[in-house]
Amino acid sequence: MRKPIIAGNWKMNKTVAEANAFAEAVKTKIPSNDKVDSVIGSPALFLTDLVNIAKGTDLKISAQNCYFENSGAFTGETSPAALANLGVDYVIIGHSERREYFHETDEDINKKAKAIIANGMTPILCCGETLETYEAGKTAEWIESQIKGGLADLTEEQVSNLVIAYEPIWAIGTGKSADANIADEICGVVRGTVAKLYNDTVASKVRIQYGGSVKPENIKEYMAKENVDGALVGGASLEADSFLALLEAVK
Ligand code: G3H
Repeated sequence: MRKPIIAGNWKMNKTVAEANAFAEAVKTKIPSNDKVDSVIGSPALFLTDLVNIAKGTDLKISAQNCYFENSGAFTGETSPAALANLGVDYVIIGHSERREYFHETDEDINKKAKAIIANGMTPILCCGETLETYEAGKTAEWIESQIKGGLADLTEEQVSNLVIAYEPIWAIGTGKSADANIADEICGVVRGTVAKLYNDTVASKVRIQYGGSVKPENIKEYMAKENVDGALVGGASLEADSFLALLEAVK
């Protein structure tokens, strides 16, 4: 069976003092990672402290983005090699906010996935459609195309080990979570796309999260679904109690 993975995405929130206080508050209360992978996606500024605070505990740390080259003249970018050297475990890539505000393409995201994997970390590859695409009934083809582009040239083993997050853009930060049946159906489209591109074994191994207004009160509805292996959580991951409640609900 696939192990659940709950990842908080703090986005551009908190100060270093707040980030450290959060990690100190949760680090010994995290459920065993035999049961669930518990991840915090932090701004790059706080990663060094968070990795040190989380050392020896079941809390895993994720970056929210990186570049696809390891070094060079790329002012303002974050090196995947440097993240790996720091002890970061995961990197979120292709979040809809990065696609929209920073014009990231599937090709950029694919290059990042390769660089993250080459550095021994795990990508959390996001996909998701706009309300317009959803209402036009074009979600499945949109998602298939994002997955195909994001996974281009990755091997069966690499895809088996990564995490994909399905986040309908219309459900992010809006309080309007997608119905659990819709989340299951589209996570099933993601899994079916992996099966078409690779095979059923790879599709049965890849972990797929739902994201979009997940909170402690509704997470169990999603986790009960066959194709949903976890959640990528924004707002409800910002408070320590709420983050712990999400983990408790799935362990
Ligand atoms: O990465 C997380 C998602 O964008 C969901 O954010 O839980 O605040 O809706 P949200």
